[in-house]
Amino acid sequence: MKEFKMLDFQRSSQSIREFLDKPLSKDAINEILLDAQAAPSACNTQPWLTHIISGKKAKELKEILKDKWAKGETKSDFIWDQTQFKDKLDERLRNQYKFVYDDFGVTREDRQGRADIMIRNLEFYGAPHVAMLFMPSITDNVNVATDMGMYAQNFMLSCTARGYGSIPQLVFAMFADTIRKELGVSDELKLLFGISFGYPNWEAQPNKNHLSRVPLSKSVTFHE
Ligand SMILES: Cc1cc2nc3c(=O)[nH]c(=O)nc-3n(C[C@H](O)[C@H](O)[C@H](O)COP(=O)(O)O)c2cc1C
Repeated sequence: MKEFKMLDFQRSSQSIREFLDKPLSKDAINEILLDAQAAPSACNTQPWLTHIISGKKAKELKEILKDKWAKGETKSDFIWDQTQFKDKLDERLRNQYKFVYDDFGVTREDRQGRADIMIRNLEFYGAPHVAMLFMPSITDNVNVATDMGMYAQNFMLSCTARGYGSIPQLVFAMFADTIRKELGVSDELKLLFGISFGYPNWEAQPNKNHLSRVPLSKSVTFHE
């Protein structure tokens, strides 16, 4: 197990793309959820509605998602259009894809290898649990989605601090209708993304590297 000092786990925390086949206890999941629940939200509205999927239900859901993907049956609540990311954002997005392909030993030309990574995505990268994050749709959704991001980050940092690992996955949003149906969730709630979590397999290549960030000078302007 990797150990993180209290002050550096924010910087060391990373997306995990290979998990051990070892579930967390119900108490452990509860502690993570309590950490997430402590997130700030605008006017303390706490708009998050979380569904935790484990065990037999997780196995079933993985198969259903793969089947829907094979049939091309996808439908998201929110638009994700990669072509809208321009210039340096586009560059970072492409670097991220290359980073993941390299980690899985997949070349640009290897279509099957790329398809296999999508399947691993839908298999929660081997994680025993996934948290699906639903939210009510209010006005243009931006403020509610901001609160959801705070919640998700608390959830993921809690995982890291407690010796577990996680990965946020927008890929699940492509199956919003299917996931709502499987979990018995009302159409009024929108699926933003999911977080797969469990014990990281630190021996696996995809977990050995961590994507770097741009220097502060590219993101921050100081005024005095
Ligand atoms: C909202 C959100 C959705 C994401 N969706 C996916 C996904 O579907 N599949 C995946 O492999 N990684 C996904 N990621 C992980 C990002 O690729 C990752 O956070 C980023 O490359 C930075 O790497 P790091 O988390 O290891 O620091 C997502 C991250 C966020 C914040």
